[in-house]
Amino acid sequence: MPLVPPARLLLTNATLASFQDTGQAYGLMTDAAIAIADGKIAWVGPAAHVPPDWKAGSPNLRRQDLGGRLVTPGLIDCHTHLVFAGDRSTEFEQRLQGVSYADIAAGGGGILATVRATRESSEERLYELAAERLQDMMTEGVTGVEIKSGYGLDEDTEIQMLRVARRLGENFPVRISTTFLGAHALPPEYAGDRAAYIEWLCQRMIPRIAEEKLAGAVDAYCEHIGFSPAETRQVFDAAVRHDLPVKLHADQLSDLGGAALVAEYCGLSADHVEYTNARGVKALAEAGSVAVLLPYAFYSLGETRKPPVAAFRQHQVPMAVATDCNPGTAPTSSLLTCLNMACVQFGLTPAEALAGATCHAARALGWEEDNGQVSRGMRADLAVWDVTHPAQLLYWRGSSPLHARVFDGRWLG
Ligand code: NIG
Ligand code: FE
Repeated sequence: MPLVPPARLLLTNATLASFQDTGQAYGLMTDAAIAIADGKIAWVGPAAHVPPDWKAGSPNLRRQDLGGRLVTPGLIDCHTHLVFAGDRSTEFEQRLQGVSYADIAAGGGGILATVRATRESSEERLYELAAERLQDMMTEGVTGVEIKSGYGLDEDTEIQMLRVARRLGENFPVRISTTFLGAHALPPEYAGDRAAYIEWLCQRMIPRIAEEKLAGAVDAYCEHIGFSPAETRQVFDAAVRHDLPVKLHADQLSDLGGAALVAEYCGLSADHVEYTNARGVKALAEAGSVAVLLPYAFYSLGETRKPPVAAFRQHQVPMAVATDCNPGTAPTSSLLTCLNMACVQFGLTPAEALAGATCHAARALGWEEDNGQVSRGMRADLAVWDVTHPAQLLYWRGSSPLHARVFDGRWLG
């Protein structure tokens, strides 16, 4: 059989925002070229210095003149609940009339309403619904998505959710990271016996999920309407026993010390973090964990307590920004909208917000070695935009400024 040399792609005439740690906002470079082989970035630099074997006429080379367009790493949405059935627009109406998220949850709505709808759905239907949301995300330059379980809360449905997430990654040009969130809410079958539910998560579900490699991390909802710090510790201890990294829905509605708790386990990330205290910020910094800001949930719940962005900056805690895409608190698939909100509501600079959906989001998923930056050796997952400056991506909302995506080295126009 003749050997077919691998296809190579050279992007020229690019305005590059590499998000390399150059000390310069965005890592900007004009008139840049990016050489891609075997799905990876082989060379990046000024167009005038393209190595000779990448010149026009070289074998198996596709050249793409970008006409000065902006190139960024493909965006990464590092916190989503993408797989679910049903909608909760009636709760939206209730909340607008003054009923709180906690009251809705206490009345059996909220997360448990979506659990009922998800259990009643089929795996095929869950796949179709999630695929639509994922396609919306891809139209905004997303090339990587984290997806949590947590709307099944029984063995079959939790496994189904994770299988659906995995299949999305097999069938769409997007990298998927899956997370087991069995500790999202107490399912009705265990009402009155919280300890038994935690026991089931730790003894039955986490071992099975680790064994079948269905999830790459374990998450929990540590909150007065979710699980206590002590219960969260039990779940985390089980995750550690099975070599699964942890992350946490931490300090969203109250300060239960969630950020410090997840940092103790050297977790990937603490997410929400509106109520994170000074000790939590320092603990995240020491552990190297990422603070994931979720401005759509903050906005949608009408919250007023903002995450301690100045303290995160001061202690150099990397900040990521994600959609939290879910049917209750963040009914959105628009990461660009969330980046805009992170600037307007939380005071991030556009450079910080975009780092939050590229290099820092990659770190929140443990992908930092080969994703989230445009630099040599990284996977060639890129977004090419119809703008010439990164701030334009966040400034105007209403239509997607995406021109094309490159996924795993393939040009997807
Ligand atoms: O991240 N807070 C817990 N989980 C989701 C909300 C899920 C829901 O309301 O369905 C969140 O905001
Ligand atoms: Fe969430």
